[in-house]
Amino acid sequence: DAATGDPFEIAQLAADDIARETGVDHHDIALTLGSGWSKAADLIGETTATVPATAITGFSKPALEGHVGTIRSILLPNGKRALVIGARTHYYEGHGVRRVVHSVRTAAATGATTMILTNGAGGIKEHWKPGTPVLINDHINLTSDSPLEGATFVDLTGLYSQRLRDIAHSIDPSLDEGVYCQFRGPHYETPAEVQMAKTLGGHIVGMSTALEAIAARQAGMEVLGMSLITNLAAGIQATPLSHEEVIEAGRAAEAEISSLLARIVAEL
Ligand code: 6GU
Repeated sequence: DAATGDPFEIAQLAADDIARETGVDHHDIALTLGSGWSKAADLIGETTATVPATAITGFSKPALEGHVGTIRSILLPNGKRALVIGARTHYYEGHGVRRVVHSVRTAAATGATTMILTNGAGGIKEHWKPGTPVLINDHINLTSDSPLEGATFVDLTGLYSQRLRDIAHSIDPSLDEGVYCQFRGPHYETPAEVQMAKTLGGHIVGMSTALEAIAARQAGMEVLGMSLITNLAAGIQATPLSHEEVIEAGRAAEAEISSLLARIVAEL
């Protein structure tokens, strides 16, 4: 089953389900749309099939409001096919790292060679206002976990593709970049932990993406990572953090950042 079987065989079963349910047997690009990014699915092309994630092997029901549990096949204007995964499993759900990266491995098994990972996250740079999109240029994985098992020594240099970041900058030259720190969550960090992340060289704090990016690299995919800064991290902003604030910031920025992402995807 999904907990004990070979994760790549399970991903292949999921890819077979997607081919059957969508009628599309090959995808070129995959996108995981986090908080604030989901409207991009409506802007990048023509959705030809929408499938509940529960119909696909290894996917679970969305744990959280604001996380849409569907998988869509989208025909891009340039003829390429995008797989939009609106059903992220977070590490903090406690189902283990295999479940977290299953969507990425499934995307790779559908043929996708580009993986776009988006999220809503906290900002450490004080000048980032809520609603600012930021390109991820590297990460620090603070989960103490890895999607790789056994003696799988994978190089992570250039994980967040310079080529794809160049394309993003060509669409919006004002886009800032930063190092994403994946914490386990689901609590937000303490101010001291945010200072630790800053000292370590981090600029963005969140609860996703890094483990998925590692799995994408293992699968040989090119990765584009983008965070929506929904709030400043604890201690950087004076007021306490709230999930409602994060969701609301995502809503407020959604139209703008989704259109930005759609313009980037059109250039891929
Ligand atoms: Cl401040 N931290 C984490 N880990 N995730 C977040 C966040 C902060 N703000 C939005 N998502």
